[in-house]
Amino acid sequence: MRVLSGIQPTGRFHWGNYFGAIQQYIALQDEDEAYYFIANLHALTTIRDKEHLSQLTYDAALDLLALGLDPARAILFVQSDVPEVSELCWLLMTGTPMGLLERCHAYKDKKAKGMAADAGLFTYPVLMAADILAYDADVVPVGEDQVQHIEVCRDLAGSFNHKFGEVFTMPKPQLLDGSAKVPGLDGEKMSKSYDNTLEVFEELGPQKKKIMRIASDSRPMEDSKEPEGDVLYQLYSLVATDAEREEMAAMYRKGGFGYGDVKKSIVAAANQYFGAARESRQDWESRPDDVRDVLADGAKKARAKAGEVLHRAQEACGLKLS
Ligand code: TYM
Repeated sequence: MRVLSGIQPTGRFHWGNYFGAIQQYIALQDEDEAYYFIANLHALTTIRDKEHLSQLTYDAALDLLALGLDPARAILFVQSDVPEVSELCWLLMTGTPMGLLERCHAYKDKKAKGMAADAGLFTYPVLMAADILAYDADVVPVGEDQVQHIEVCRDLAGSFNHKFGEVFTMPKPQLLDGSAKVPGLDGEKMSKSYDNTLEVFEELGPQKKKIMRIASDSRPMEDSKEPEGDVLYQLYSLVATDAEREEMAAMYRKGGFGYGDVKKSIVAAANQYFGAARESRQDWESRPDDVRDVLADGAKKARAKAGEVLHRAQEACGLKLS
């Protein structure tokens, strides 16, 4: 089974990114082949500052390595280091109905808010399809918000195969039960654009403040209550051990506890959960040449695979002289 996924360097990674996607990247890195990339071309649709984009891209690599992505088992690279994908994107674009892209939520939401959208944002799902198809990916580990894009990818692959023969492998999304849609501080989906995130490598002081300020249920604490559906409990469940989670669920059902205590428990469990990754990040930070080597080596391997698939696609649609 070949695994592939990408993540945008549009800000520091948050718990949604980690529990919805990155956790899966790490669990799947022992599959036959695992390709993970930092989607800096996609990030160009929102970040237009040169230093900022390049710093965020580097930070994203550090974060992924610190969180357990192992370059000996998985291929880690930067999207723009594989130009074959952009070329494949064009081949797919020529067969993409406008209506399909008009229905995609990233573009639709921006337009609904009256914001100016550019062609990059509009064709974003086609580049994403090229990302996936270029590596013959079978499985794409993602959070729920990316499922629509993978459906578009399947549509485009199916119609290309129908016209030109079996060129592309049909990919499937893979979601993690319980964390495909991690809630943010306000209970909505955690997202950089909603400003409701807890970052994985946030300074502990500011993170604690954010957690302590989460609005809690207005029902009196003496009441017994079901833990499911409560944001504090959901966040705690992500970072707690199984035993701790069960204990907390029992406390909710019994009643008579303070939400402040739950918040303190989240802070403590999160420190424990990400403690080793924080240390590992410092180690990677002190070895910038090694980080660059990992990305260069990853790009080389990724280009070899993407070049093969691009060649296959070019041949199938008549771009190679016979
Ligand atoms: P991005 O950068 O927005 O998010 C990266 C991954 O994090 C997941 N995620 C979440 N999962 C659960 N709960 C949340 N609150 C949450 N927020 C984010 C996302 O679902 C995603 O898996 N278009 C992609 C990047 C991309 C890509 C690809 C992904 C480009 N090419 C090819 C897969 C395959 C994106 O913007 O993800």
